[in-house]
Amino acid sequence: MSDYTNNTLIAIRNELFETIEHLDNKGDILKHPKFKQIYANIKDLPADERKIYGQEANALKLELEKLVEDSQPLKDKLEPIDVTAPFAPNTPVPERPNILRANQGSIHPLMRELDKIIDVYSRLGFTSIESREIDDDYHMFTSLNFPTGHPARDDYDTFMTTEGLIAPAHTSTMQNRALKMFRSNLAKGEPIAVVIPGRVFRNEDLDATHEHTFYQLEGIFVAENINVGNLIAVLQAFMNEYFGQVLKTKIQPFYFPFTEPSFEFAIERPDALKKGRAEADQWLELLGCGLIHPEVLRQADIDSNKYTGFAWGGGIERLVLMKNNIEDIRHFESGKLDFLRQFK
Ligand code: DAH
Repeated sequence: MSDYTNNTLIAIRNELFETIEHLDNKGDILKHPKFKQIYANIKDLPADERKIYGQEANALKLELEKLVEDSQPLKDKLEPIDVTAPFAPNTPVPERPNILRANQGSIHPLMRELDKIIDVYSRLGFTSIESREIDDDYHMFTSLNFPTGHPARDDYDTFMTTEGLIAPAHTSTMQNRALKMFRSNLAKGEPIAVVIPGRVFRNEDLDATHEHTFYQLEGIFVAENINVGNLIAVLQAFMNEYFGQVLKTKIQPFYFPFTEPSFEFAIERPDALKKGRAEADQWLELLGCGLIHPEVLRQADIDSNKYTGFAWGGGIERLVLMKNNIEDIRHFESGKLDFLRQFK
């Protein structure tokens, strides 16, 4: 064989050896572009060299086939990979970073409070779902028994996209969805019991106690024979557990289109919120509540003659403000690190 033929074969052979490990099937060797090149070269060779070149190429092919074959048992020994898993199950799980060791970052004070609140309601038997941050006129108003053009709509002045979608002004927008989502509980003799935390938006004049973006927690409970006594019992149980002391509570009449009757619910100021100020003896109005209006149940295809329920909704910031003596609600959404670091 001439040096040319020999060198060409050696060069191709070396390149093939480098890529051979990626081949699963020995039939793939002939399809390999480099190997095709080996055969394509034959026609350019002097006649006397063709034979030997062909033999060498064949020997190389056998050698490579053997290599591919020899690597098969090793491949067979590996467990098949479950392609539906998010990672190969045979890969050792990397050690998790120990977030407790990390000294940067902390849970936002509002989220920490929300976790505590949801924990108490979950122990009272309530499921929780999250509200949405963009909604529509039906969920914001119609499903909640606000007739078109009703002046009560003005109390919920909020932001709208040019397409007419709404930044929800309260978490009550989720009532219709939650009622529908859990309506099948009723046929099984189980109640609908859901709390819904979420971010809400209002077109407010901003000051130390008013923010355009804040958090609310909504609650709904539906079953047979539900009355105002059940509403007060649940809220009272929550307040006692959450503040860790037995508290006096009171309701006073109010108006919401989606409840009938409607109330404001107030508690005596818990020790945790007493900062020796003059208002220590005043009632704290914490939320709005009432018996769910039959029209709201009907909008969710629930038989309002058979089932009744109660609902409530209130803000989260106020509690955290009072608990921590924070002077301005706008700190929460400001992203100021020197504010947030105080809650580590
Ligand atoms: N959505 C009302 C608000 O933001 C609060 C509220 C009142 C919620 C009564 C309720 C309710 O579920 O029953 O002003």
